[in-house]
Amino acid sequence: MGMIDEMNSLKQKIYLCKRCNLWKTRTNPVVGEGSLTTNIMFIGEAPGYNEDQQGKPFVGRAGKIFDELLNSIGLKRKDIYITNILKCRPPDNANPSPEQIKACSPYLDEQIKIIQPKIIVTLGNFALSYIFDKFRLKQEKISSIHGRVFTLANLVGIEKIVAMYHPAVAAYNPSMKAILIKDFKNIGDYS
Ligand code: URA
Ligand code: SF4
Repeated sequence: MGMIDEMNSLKQKIYLCKRCNLWKTRTNPVVGEGSLTTNIMFIGEAPGYNEDQQGKPFVGRAGKIFDELLNSIGLKRKDIYITNILKCRPPDNANPSPEQIKACSPYLDEQIKIIQPKIIVTLGNFALSYIFDKFRLKQEKISSIHGRVFTLANLVGIEKIVAMYHPAVAAYNPSMKAILIKDFKNIGDYS
């Protein structure tokens, strides 16, 4: 199977998924979107209201900021792939629970295998925590490691991991936005 077929069959599995309680309240699952041949994969937290309505990642307020950040390094959505730790929206935008993450993360793992990005960019604490754990990087606070590019030795496929603050933190905070813009410059070389 080619990568397009693999992603389509994964999409079908996710649309039928009932592995955690979130299937009951979702309008649409949000699988992910973008290039399957990209070098760069972004991972957010979970769909919000607008994402659940449209079935697309980062289309609300955080998405607008994400687009600005991408554009600031000369990239467009079609140049990258973006998905989330959870594919269905937690009601009231609650934090993902450990059980939900455990149930849903095999889908993300499969997406990483299909796309084989050269760099994974985590957006926010939940993605940081999952990805750093998966690749056995030392868990550190986002405030101390944001924007730093970690290079993994002896690993097939992914070579770099970088943790960013979640774009939503910049919504009402210009200084956080400045930090994000600065940190995003560190991924510019990998497109
Ligand atoms: N926040 C996220 O983490 N993901 C989305 O898709 C939207 C908002
Ligand atoms: Fe399945 Fe993930 Fe949706 Fe839970 S959040 S129902 S595990 S696709």
